[in-house]
Amino acid sequence: MNQRISELRQLLEYHNHKYYVENAPEIDDFTFDSLMRELQDLEDAHPEYADPDSPTKRVGSDLTREFQSVEHIHPMLSLSNTYSREELGEFFDRVEREMGPVEYVAELKFDGTAISLIYQNGRLLRAVTRGDGVRGDDVTANVRTIGSVPLRLRGEGYPDFFEIRGEVLMPYASFEGLNAERAAADEQPFANPRNAAAGSLKQQNPAVTASRGLDCYLYFLVGDRLPHTTHKQSLDAVRSWGFKVSELTTVCHTRDEVFDYIDRVDELRRSLPFATDGVVIKVNDYARQQELGFTSKSPRWAVAYKFKAEQAETSLLSVDFQVGRTGAVTPVANLEPVQLAGTVVKRATLHNADQIAALDLRIGDMVYVEKGGEIIPKITGVNLEQRSADAQPLEFITHCPECGAELVRPESEARHFCPNSRQCPPQIVGRIVHFVSRKAMNIESLGDETIALLHSAELISDVADLYTLTAEQIARLPRLGDKSAANIISSIAESTKVPFERVLYALGIRYVGEATAKSLAKHFGNIDALMAATPEELAETEDVGERIAQSIVDYFADAENRQRIEQLRTAGVQMISARSSAKSNSLEGLSFVISGTFAGHSRDELKALIEAHGGRNLAAVSAKTNYLVAGDNMGPAKRAKAEKLGVQIINEEQLIDMLGEPANSQNSTSMDEDLQQNVKKIEKTAVQGSLF
Ligand code: IVH
Repeated sequence: MNQRISELRQLLEYHNHKYYVENAPEIDDFTFDSLMRELQDLEDAHPEYADPDSPTKRVGSDLTREFQSVEHIHPMLSLSNTYSREELGEFFDRVEREMGPVEYVAELKFDGTAISLIYQNGRLLRAVTRGDGVRGDDVTANVRTIGSVPLRLRGEGYPDFFEIRGEVLMPYASFEGLNAERAAADEQPFANPRNAAAGSLKQQNPAVTASRGLDCYLYFLVGDRLPHTTHKQSLDAVRSWGFKVSELTTVCHTRDEVFDYIDRVDELRRSLPFATDGVVIKVNDYARQQELGFTSKSPRWAVAYKFKAEQAETSLLSVDFQVGRTGAVTPVANLEPVQLAGTVVKRATLHNADQIAALDLRIGDMVYVEKGGEIIPKITGVNLEQRSADAQPLEFITHCPECGAELVRPESEARHFCPNSRQCPPQIVGRIVHFVSRKAMNIESLGDETIALLHSAELISDVADLYTLTAEQIARLPRLGDKSAANIISSIAESTKVPFERVLYALGIRYVGEATAKSLAKHFGNIDALMAATPEELAETEDVGERIAQSIVDYFADAENRQRIEQLRTAGVQMISARSSAKSNSLEGLSFVISGTFAGHSRDELKALIEAHGGRNLAAVSAKTNYLVAGDNMGPAKRAKAEKLGVQIINEEQLIDMLGEPANSQNSTSMDEDLQQNVKKIEKTAVQGSLF
């Protein structure tokens, strides 16, 4: 028994670290929770093996070395959770046995990462991650970039100093965009929006966080002398101070109303713009909450009901091996189409050879497919009972399916690569597709198919060839007339105006994504300085580590790559950063729509400010918009559209706040002193052992 207990403790510690520190979970929540439950049951049955350091005694830790670690004013506890309605019934029984009938508040369980915000005199003072529950990481500079977090409060009645908690999350629209970008830069995509949100908060450069399209919902006002008597009153007040509180939060008078709420949310969550993994139920009345109190880990007045990730069983028909622009080979499973969470699933990613081996997959197997917070479905297991005796293990291919070259697997990589980058068609076409993509050279009129067509007609085999194409050559191709040929030529010519940092990203240097390209352009200013840089000089750039530095050096060491740069330079493509003319680059990469009238500036003034700080103005709200700056008299349709697309809505003040540089370390020292004094003040008045 003792052996199983220590085994479970070790296993849970391992997965805690994967989840909170590395943002790369290996098991799903349900499996994690089941292991935790098994350990808790064993510890309950065998108190002789109790250990204060057991994973059951603490909340997981997300502490990392790079951020200043600060102590929470009130410990950040977790919630006890359940996947069964029966157990939820037991929660109601326990509460009502002690309290008699009570009111509950039912709300969404947001699937993001917890944040504690501290406000002083109506201004955001500090933002801290949960960490180990006692200490967290100070991520204030990053949180300041999230449009829905008010930097200054509005309305009235807020305490001079208070803490509020909520969840930072990444809407699906931002998540999909980010993963597409990461795939384009040959970076590992995030497993789900939750990890993407957590990873985005732990960026050293706040501009990167700002570009990630995060959102923040608040659900818990913490304090010892709150001006309200119920949780719901607090939430309504909090909303009036400018915080984002879900409109779906509802008071329930009976447990049946809570069960109805759960059913509704289970239905609705498929059409929400962000991930929810359950419903949180809280006792509404603060006096009742105080009477119920806490266990060492969680409040006794609240519980989380979690939805199980939906699963379907279907058969594995075949596996395709796709070759990307970097030569990376990705296995993709073709499945017998099956209904799952509202869509028909036909394909699932298999990541790499290790995963195929870990699942021990065979063609014809009945496999379990899951779609949790993830967008792309994944295979989570095999139904071995259904396996036929002669099923053959799935072999990973040894040669490129496109060009026949022998695949290689570098030691540090989980993936196989086709090394024939010069001649392998999907690699050539993939590089050009990346070059013309929206965030790179933005040559809109050149679609993937046209590029493949131009390549097979032997008109292009490299990005530099685009600039020597003629309209006559293009017009001769099937399905392309004079008009589209002229369009293509003019958008290629237009692309010579694209700023240097995007050219750098467009080159497709391995591991150089958008953010890194920006940092490099800022640091070096032009291509010649970058080409001459040593690995040590490169590593001085923000966001550039050894691996990226080496990849850049390797790229420029290649004569063919240097020749390409010269051809592009001759064609007029930007090789010098034009950044210096802007007043700052604090809005770099962000796009805005201005709507309504404003107290402090005219619309044109605001637009000019956005441009002067590196941002872009758009005429209408679309999925490309990062922020809608809402003034008075803005039409409701615009707001509804922004909400539907997950576009962040900010006011004039928040925009002005974004223009300034994030607080530097000197400022934060004095803030810390302020904070320390307030913490002392609060500690003096706090009721011992209680949150209120
Ligand atoms: S209340 C003392 N409300 O779930 C309890 N938490 O499993 C404070 N979460 O750490 C938490 N949605 O990160 C609360 N509506 C909600 C929530 C919520 C998501 C997260 C939060 C918490 C975790 C506990």
